[in-house]
Amino acid sequence: MATPIPLRPTEGAAESPAEARIPRHVGVIMDGNGRWAERRGEPRTAGHKEGATAVTRTVRACRERGVEVLTLYAFSAQNWARPQPEVAALMQLLYDYVLGERDEIMGTGIRLRAIGDVEQLPAFVKGPLRALEAESRGNGGMILALALSYGAREELVRSARRLAERVARGELDPADIDEAALGGGLDTAGWPDPDLVIRTGGEARLSNFLLWQAAYAELYFTPVPWPEFTPHDLDAAFAWYADRQRRFGLTGRQVEARMERASC
Ligand code: FPP
Repeated sequence: MATPIPLRPTEGAAESPAEARIPRHVGVIMDGNGRWAERRGEPRTAGHKEGATAVTRTVRACRERGVEVLTLYAFSAQNWARPQPEVAALMQLLYDYVLGERDEIMGTGIRLRAIGDVEQLPAFVKGPLRALEAESRGNGGMILALALSYGAREELVRSARRLAERVARGELDPADIDEAALGGGLDTAGWPDPDLVIRTGGEARLSNFLLWQAAYAELYFTPVPWPEFTPHDLDAAFAWYADRQRRFGLTGRQVEARMERASC
């Protein structure tokens, strides 16, 4: 018999109605910075700078609403190919963010994590980033994951390669490679899968973000450019999410029956 698929990772746990509406893991594709700036006659980097302030308010709002994991797509593996001054400005913003937000992160118990090929980052960013990751490791609050030099395909390749190496060493039988083995080699191992992925800026695509983990995520696309994204917009996304019926391959009627049983 097939293993029952949980309607939510927390199914069976006591949940207040308010908690049930809040996604445990939110991923955000922070798009629209460059176009926002260009529309104002400003350089694209001005959009990224304003985008960093949107990061600060969104992190705060997610923590206050009880989100467990917030993953922000801050720099893709493909973004290295952008013009060098734009890449340099983004690296400087990341450095400023890590230093500038250190007190709030530590004061509010956030665990900072970086996912992606972080080794590619320049040392002046990587050093403080790794230091704050280590410093915040013991915090018990929301995980704030910055996806940096991140690509989902690249992440899957890394996981597959590690499994292949274990097979080559005779430590792993190929027959034992399953979802848990592949997923366990991803940067997000141990975290709940994203329940909700928000993309700002009007495009409707995933752009190599959490492709494995978002298999059952609800996808929310908004035309609001990231620099203008506010907690009000976040609440609109959460309200939309709360109305979704997540079926995980089941029928709507099966889902309703399981919800009724869970609430008894
Ligand atoms: C995509 O918008 C956004 C990025 C490539 C960078 C996102 C970076 C930040 C929001 C600021 C720095 C991050 C942190 C965590 C402090 P785009 O520039 O591709 O927008 P466009 O589609 O309008 O050109």
